[in-house]
Amino acid sequence: MDRFIIRGGRPLKGTVTVASSKNAVLPILGACLLTEEECTIRNVPQLEDVRTMLRLLRAVGAGVSVSGRTVRIRAPGPLEKQAPYNIVRKMRAGYYVLGPLLGRFGEARVSLPGGCAIGSRPLDLHLKGMAALGARVELKHGYIDARARKLRGAQVSLEGTKGPSVGATANVMMAAVLSKGETVIKGAACEPELVDLAEFLNKMGARVEGAGTAEVRIRGVAQLGRAVHRPIPDRIEAGTLAAAAALTRGKVKIRNCRPEHLVTVIDKLRQAGAVVETRGRTMLVSARARPKPVNISTASYPGFPTDLQAQFTALLSIGRGTSIITENIFEARFMHVMELNRMGARIDINGNMAVVQGVERLCSAQVMASDLRASAALVLAGLVAQGKTEVLRIYHLDRGYERLEKKLASLGAQVERVSSG
Ligand code: EPZ
Repeated sequence: MDRFIIRGGRPLKGTVTVASSKNAVLPILGACLLTEEECTIRNVPQLEDVRTMLRLLRAVGAGVSVSGRTVRIRAPGPLEKQAPYNIVRKMRAGYYVLGPLLGRFGEARVSLPGGCAIGSRPLDLHLKGMAALGARVELKHGYIDARARKLRGAQVSLEGTKGPSVGATANVMMAAVLSKGETVIKGAACEPELVDLAEFLNKMGARVEGAGTAEVRIRGVAQLGRAVHRPIPDRIEAGTLAAAAALTRGKVKIRNCRPEHLVTVIDKLRQAGAVVETRGRTMLVSARARPKPVNISTASYPGFPTDLQAQFTALLSIGRGTSIITENIFEARFMHVMELNRMGARIDINGNMAVVQGVERLCSAQVMASDLRASAALVLAGLVAQGKTEVLRIYHLDRGYERLEKKLASLGAQVERVSSG
């Protein structure tokens, strides 16, 4: 298992380019199953979750060819209708073949994903959506078994107890594009990744309107065709790099980002005293002092993204005062806190609230990554801690960041990856 060795204390300076969005690419790859023609996705990030998704597409029988960052997918059929447990257990987003297989072939068997470090991650809203479209949905032997002669359009609300569901909105959108009639999703999630998915589906010939709002309308069509697409930049990677710039009191130009997808994040950086200038697809982030205390409450888009909560907890752990961070989306997304406290942070958890009393400095330690964004938080803490920090189990990080150590090193950080077989 790989680990990072980080020697902290150096401000990040320079220019870095953001990759395409993992959370846009994953459903878009699933959507390629909706047509027998070839789809081309450009600038695909080289991430473990993407490799897992491509393995899953091959497992159901799609042809997948990768050359550099261009992925070509062709699924003429017939396809296996089952997404196997040994792949889905590695990545929850394996459920993104459910909607496409059911929508195109009228049947799909997808393993229920395994547990996840950040919470129970139920799929009830996905199943509610498929049932609303006329599918018979059963849970058998750890698999979701969904069948329908022909899906028909319906009105369905996807508002869950924790707000709208990104995954369920994407899955129902993909199931509905080939159904008979019109589907209206109420309480849809509004994330930019769903707007990107809708754009890709419409390039294939679908008729999706309203993506990015709480009401999405899909008029079913008879079939879909080829499409070429370059996904949007990864707003979470951009936010992670911006937090790293502020944390290390550096000055970083972040290229290929969409500041309009980061409005609440930029606002929090400015409240913390960072200087953030945006121009087109570039964001310049700098800071000269420890951050001012800031309160953060995660919410679905356009609120503050839960996927940046851990990274901003690391930033505010050296704040000049006390910050309150409330996690409203996932019930166990503070796994990074214990490790940050081992580095000298003073964070108390009280239910879904973290009270962060800023300290002057963090000290290096050997810490353990636990999930994707928690590992990013620990890497950021290592950048500013005095001495040598080791972050173990970097495979968590590799799921969602492409060679993050190279990007940070190009900005002057002393970080190296050590592979231990
Ligand atoms: C997507 O996960 C992202 N993953 C997550 O990013 C992100 O944190 C999350 O959306 C919220 O923005 C991908 O896009 C691959 P949800 P998803 O369905 O779709 C509850 C990362 O770090 N819920 O929007 O699984 C759920 O438990 C990952 O890149 C139900 O109750 O999230 C959660 O509390 C982590 N029933 C809330 O809704 C359901 O059927 C939001 O979940 C589905 C979800």
